Amino acid sequence: MPLNPLPPAALRADGIELLELQLADWPLEQQLSRVPDVVRWTFYRADMTEQQARERIELGHARSRDGVSRRYAVRLDGQSVGTAGIIVTREHPEVFYALLPDGRGRGAATAAVRALSDWALDAGADQVVIWTGEGNAASEAVARRAGFLFAGTEVDLDHGEPETLLKWVRRGGGVPR
Ligand SMILES: CC(C)(COP(=O)(O)OP(=O)(O)OC[C@H]1O[C@@H](n2cnc3c(N)ncnc32)[C@H](O)[C@@H]1OP(=O)(O)O)[C@@H](O)C(=O)NCCC(=O)NCCS
Repeated sequence: MPLNPLPPAALRADGIELLELQLADWPLEQQLSRVPDVVRWTFYRADMTEQQARERIELGHARSRDGVSRRYAVRLDGQSVGTAGIIVTREHPEVFYALLPDGRGRGAATAAVRALSDWALDAGADQVVIWTGEGNAASEAVARRAGFLFAGTEVDLDHGEPETLLKWVRRGGGVPR
């Protein structure tokens, strides 16, 4: 069930803050584009310029205005440690995330996924989805910790080489902590 509207521009939960990405966050986008596993497992292009990073944020704002998706800076202890977001126009809302290496190992991605999926389930979605690339063990662990269950694989043919994606689903009814 597609959702409308988007989550609010600021969400707080489990010691993190999610603040909608602003143009001033371009260095965060650029840093993420310089992390090899972020480029490997997400749609970040490698080594973005300032201009490219700003354009990526502006594209996110256009999608937000169109009610498609919203992207956030993940803030932990007052620092931006990565990004996360949600697409609400698919059959089921989809959550995505990426952290800088220094932000890892502290539960920030798990907290971001919980916050966004809590919002979607509270807003009426019957399930929320995460897609992970085959072999992305760190992301699978985030999905499991945030209460998602493995729900099968699909082959994605939309982005060059065929890629096997694992589907993770969280349904309403409470998140194991
Ligand atoms: C996927 C990715 C975000 C996971 O980062 P992460 O730091 O492992 O995930 P979290 O922020 O949830 O932190 C979990 C780790 O913090 C620990 N942790 C500490 N406090 C915690 C808390 N309060 N809650 C949960 N975990 C906590 C966990 O034990 C875990 O450590 P472990 O892996 O040694 O067991 C990161 O590897 C990444 O950015 N990868 C590249 C991009 C990517 O793959 N994105 C997903 C595409 S599908």
